[in-house]
Amino acid sequence: MAKKTMQDVELTGKRVLIRVDFNVPRSKTTGEITNDVRIQAGVPTIKYLVEQGAKVIIMTHMGRPKGEVKEELRLDRVAERLAELIGQPVKKLDQVVGPEVEAAVAAMQNGDIIMLENVRFLPGETENDPELARQLAALGDVFVNDAFGTAHRAHCSTEGVGHILPGVMGFLMDKEISVLGKALSEAEHPFVAIVGGSKISDKIGVVQNLLEKVDCLMIGGGMANTFLKAKGYEMGTSLVEDDKTDLALKIMQHAEQLGKKLLIPVDLTVASAIEQPETAQVVTVDAVPADKMALDIGPETVKLYQQAVADAKTVIWNGPMGVFEVDAFAVGTGAVAQAVASSGAYSIVGGGDSVASIEKAGLNDKIDHISTGGGASLEFLEGKKLPGIEVLQDK
Ligand code: 3PG
Repeated sequence: MAKKTMQDVELTGKRVLIRVDFNVPRSKTTGEITNDVRIQAGVPTIKYLVEQGAKVIIMTHMGRPKGEVKEELRLDRVAERLAELIGQPVKKLDQVVGPEVEAAVAAMQNGDIIMLENVRFLPGETENDPELARQLAALGDVFVNDAFGTAHRAHCSTEGVGHILPGVMGFLMDKEISVLGKALSEAEHPFVAIVGGSKISDKIGVVQNLLEKVDCLMIGGGMANTFLKAKGYEMGTSLVEDDKTDLALKIMQHAEQLGKKLLIPVDLTVASAIEQPETAQVVTVDAVPADKMALDIGPETVKLYQQAVADAKTVIWNGPMGVFEVDAFAVGTGAVAQAVASSGAYSIVGGGDSVASIEKAGLNDKIDHISTGGGASLEFLEGKKLPGIEVLQDK
């Protein structure tokens, strides 16, 4: 059932408690925000609320402070950046709840913006403590959830408050779930997916769910090693999940039964260690040396995957093809990024690493939808229900 959006409720003069995901990457040394895409993505919703004359009370988390105040995870810089982007002051508070917050909210005029301190400074947040939810909900009249990136967490500010206040989707939440939802239910074919990352155990749900929907699924990254091992190839010192080879075999058999193409690498870039890129060489999958490990897909695999992407009408990419943090092993991931960007297909990219590769290559403008959700987009593509969405009101 479709969820209510901001357009379905009266907002003028209302105190709107909005959850965003402004958990943005920061420099370890200076604390400067190094990528503000998630803040930019929240701007249209906040602007709309201001235009409607709502009193806007923003909640977000930053990092994983585990219920303690961590100075480096305060939100002052985030509030400053939002104020710049939105062109109006954002009053950042030093508390999440309590008398100071209540007084600040009581003094708000229509169109004002307040940002609460990092909600994860309180242990009750991740415990979804009903008392904290009650305190937060008491600050608002309406709950707007625009935090797609955190929609898979049943926390106070993402889910708990939705049991007390009427909850609706913000623009970003609406866009994310309609784009990803359409891809799962009514994608134009040929529909191809590229799934990478180091472990099958992290991606099994998404591989299984996507296999039912796509025409072709391509596997890369460390998880491909387990598929290759399952097919009987010797993988040298590569990362292999030995307890998952049976599962890999079952997935390949299932793909065959469904008549779906499941592509795995035909060649690999191997090296003695990640720290020794000078030892890198390209080998076919049947010739991995005993003392080397697979760290990227090889050029023939790149060609194969590029071909499948070139013919597609819809493409979803999640997860890197190799150890893309090291230039020598970033070739496959870069080539896939290029292929996805230059295909005529409707393209969707999700997951922190794939998105980072797209950004590094300056290809953002060539992708139809870059999801702001890492874990959340993965769970959505697995077909799971996300608690931060489920709690919102039905239309
Ligand atoms: C993310 O970056 O994926 C979200 O902000 C969620 O963060 P979490 O994994 O710490 O809940």
